[in-house]
Amino acid sequence: MSEEAKKSGANTMWGGRFSSSPSALMEAINASIDFDKRLASEDIQGSIAHSAMLAKRGIIAESDRDAIQQGLQRVLGEIESGSFTFSTALEDIHMNVESRLREIAGDPAARLHTARSRNDQVAVDVRLWVRNAHDRADEQITNLIKVLLDKAEQHAGTVMPGFTHLQGAQPVTFGHHLMAYVEMFGRDRGRFRDSRVRLNESPLGAGALAGTSFPIDRHMTAKALGFDGPTRNSLDSVSDRDSLLEFMSAAAICAVHLSRLAEEIVIWMSAPFGFVRLPDRWTTGSSMMPQKRNPDAAELVRGKTGRIFGSLMSLLTVMKGLPLAYAKDTQEDKEPLFDAADTLEIVLAAMTGMVQDLEPVPGRMAAVAGAGYSTATDLADWLVRSLNIPFRDAHHITGRIVSEAEKRGTSLEDLALDVMQAVEPKIHKGIYEVLSVENSVRSRTSFGGTSPVRVTEQIAWWRERV
Ligand code: ARG
Repeated sequence: MSEEAKKSGANTMWGGRFSSSPSALMEAINASIDFDKRLASEDIQGSIAHSAMLAKRGIIAESDRDAIQQGLQRVLGEIESGSFTFSTALEDIHMNVESRLREIAGDPAARLHTARSRNDQVAVDVRLWVRNAHDRADEQITNLIKVLLDKAEQHAGTVMPGFTHLQGAQPVTFGHHLMAYVEMFGRDRGRFRDSRVRLNESPLGAGALAGTSFPIDRHMTAKALGFDGPTRNSLDSVSDRDSLLEFMSAAAICAVHLSRLAEEIVIWMSAPFGFVRLPDRWTTGSSMMPQKRNPDAAELVRGKTGRIFGSLMSLLTVMKGLPLAYAKDTQEDKEPLFDAADTLEIVLAAMTGMVQDLEPVPGRMAAVAGAGYSTATDLADWLVRSLNIPFRDAHHITGRIVSEAEKRGTSLEDLALDVMQAVEPKIHKGIYEVLSVENSVRSRTSFGGTSPVRVTEQIAWWRERV
């Protein structure tokens, strides 16, 4: 504790940072300006709409409205240019803006807060902010889908091993694999769109909690701010943060998808796989091991998922059990919101860049796709189709043929006909048509399947939607 603080008689129990006085401690826990300054432009937008409405309804004079609006534009200019001095003593963005407005516009500024509370003010600010965040996410996801479509189109016929349990299962195509992520990101975009529809109601005019006795027009402010209409219940309006929770939920699910693709890139890039190459700009070297190229960007996309989950979890916890109506707890909505939005923005951008730059190694993927008797299902299906053997029996026969091949250290494609005939005498040379990975992939023409014709259809379907 400083000598100065000691002299002022401050309590030593509060800890170093807050040793000066109880009011300093209160200011430190209460102030939100350090982070809610990011709501400045939404706050001013809301105030412009509010003042226009107050004048229209005869609640303030038109001359006051004009002074207020000109003053607000100046405040915005100062904030955007960086010349604005934020004050912690003024607690939050609302009071910082209003106080500066008073200096600029004088007495008319004091009429701006008529028929309004910081409770509906902050509610409308965060809603405007999160609405923009929805639109940014929508646009970024659309861009990611586009680059996935381009890559998938180039590789609709590039064979790769398909996995279940991370064990080689059946051959698929790289294009088909990427299109699986297009489906995921398409649902993510849909979630942001659904949530945006629900959030687009204006809480402005709910007052502190009960509405107001002034003859305000909430429909007018709602319209001016691009909302479909006003929210219907003033108590709910000042306390609800669902739009933020929905944004973060959608972001969390999107982050899950991004982390899965990131993990696959990490696996594909590792030497034992060697399925893809990523240019150096997405990787780093090791300070000790000269041979290393580490997929840091992909790892960070995977790792940053934790921040988004954490943000969602913090706000869920803040909101849990809160009684109506407004409570200061909800001031804790902003940091998680901003962090989730910032994180989503950077991981979407990084993933879009990586997908664009991803270079598959078709030879390597095809080699692995053919290993491990990956066309065994094709063999069994052939027995069913060509010899009318029941599938269960065909499965058993195939198992025996695979073990013959294993014994000889050969692939199914290279296994001699008489070896197969020793297991099942009706087998003829037609069987070889289904044993190559290319033919296997080409034959999977069921709707949604991996056959290049089907994948090309899936790509076309998505092209119309981006
Ligand atoms: N900074 C506050 C928040 O973010 C603004 C609302 C404060 N309202 C109040 N009655 N203290 O929630």
